[in-house]
Amino acid sequence: MAGKWRRDFEILDDTVHGHALVYLDNAATTQMPRQVRDRIAGYYAHEHANVHRGVHYLSERATGALERARSHVSAFIGAAHPEEVVFTDGATDSLNMVARGLSDIIEPGTAVVVSDLEHHSNFVPWQRLCAERGAEFLIWRSHDGRLSLSELEALLAGHTVKVVAVTQVSNVTGTVVPVTDVAALAHRFGSIAVADGAQGILHEGMDASASGIDLYAFSAHKMLGPTGTGVLYGRRDLLESLAPSRFGGGMVGTVGDSETTFGALPYRLEAGTPNISGIIGLDAAISYLEENGLDEMRAHERELTAYAVERLEALDGVAVLGHPELRSSIVSFELAGASAFDVAFMLDKLGVAVRSGHHCAQPALRSLGVDSTVRASVAPYNEKDDIDALCDGLARIRKMLGS
Ligand code: ALA
Repeated sequence: MAGKWRRDFEILDDTVHGHALVYLDNAATTQMPRQVRDRIAGYYAHEHANVHRGVHYLSERATGALERARSHVSAFIGAAHPEEVVFTDGATDSLNMVARGLSDIIEPGTAVVVSDLEHHSNFVPWQRLCAERGAEFLIWRSHDGRLSLSELEALLAGHTVKVVAVTQVSNVTGTVVPVTDVAALAHRFGSIAVADGAQGILHEGMDASASGIDLYAFSAHKMLGPTGTGVLYGRRDLLESLAPSRFGGGMVGTVGDSETTFGALPYRLEAGTPNISGIIGLDAAISYLEENGLDEMRAHERELTAYAVERLEALDGVAVLGHPELRSSIVSFELAGASAFDVAFMLDKLGVAVRSGHHCAQPALRSLGVDSTVRASVAPYNEKDDIDALCDGLARIRKMLGS
């Protein structure tokens, strides 16, 4: 059962403030299994060199590993071609590249739609772009963590929307947004569909070609891989027309005195030396997921999430925030009489790691009517014991506060 995954994550055997570590901050970053850490160490020990820049043995070896990683990512997300996978620094970087790259089509009289459940990474770049280009910035409003497709349809019908950019999973409420339906609707109105997969890729997965999503962003460090590495998937014809926003080595065709032409995909969008070890770590993380029963992991996470909601809702003084139709791996809540910061601080003293604050999603919190939340988020290596430790901790904090 789930214990078989836990043993690959030795950090989970550590103690924190004299208590066994209970790690429930997986939406911020997941832990890396031994297999991924070993692969990265092996790369630095025997394969480290720059890619696409040398004919020597090590450079060719590193290049081969990086391009195999691209093919692996492509197969994992159901892309039609490996060149539809662009390596970036993370989901934030990917989304900023998309907003910059589509700038030419965002003109006065046009609009961009985002939901209010977005992480700032899929909100602010579009808000800035619309302000710069004199376009309308429209917000698809949620209600208690739910989004209605008919409300999106009304926005699309009433404006010339060029881009609909939504998260696949809210990092505050865990809401699973039906991105396939969003893409179909967006296409019906001639809009491009962009999805932020940072919180979705591990727990929900993505079949990019089947989903109809035009552009999809995610980070390695939220799917058992290392930090500093991400992916921008895009339909080939769209990526070919996306204006590069980063310039430098590796992405050019010819550099003349007054003009530069750009190379072919995916390199035209990958300026500079990539995060080679990070990309190799991402490849290893995907291998780990594939070789260790990803479907079983997701079923286990769904069970844990439902258990967490049920236990938290049964606790005196705890209010779970947002009631999505479908929830993925994330539960935000408040504890009556205590600030989210204090709750997270006191839980930490009991060894329980959760996140508190606005989670870089202030519009989502405004929609829920709160300034901050405590957030617990699960990964495949968590167990029901972890949820029990969280709930026991909350009961203890309530007692300490005299409520
Ligand atoms: N985006 C990450 C989170 O939601 C950091 O915690």
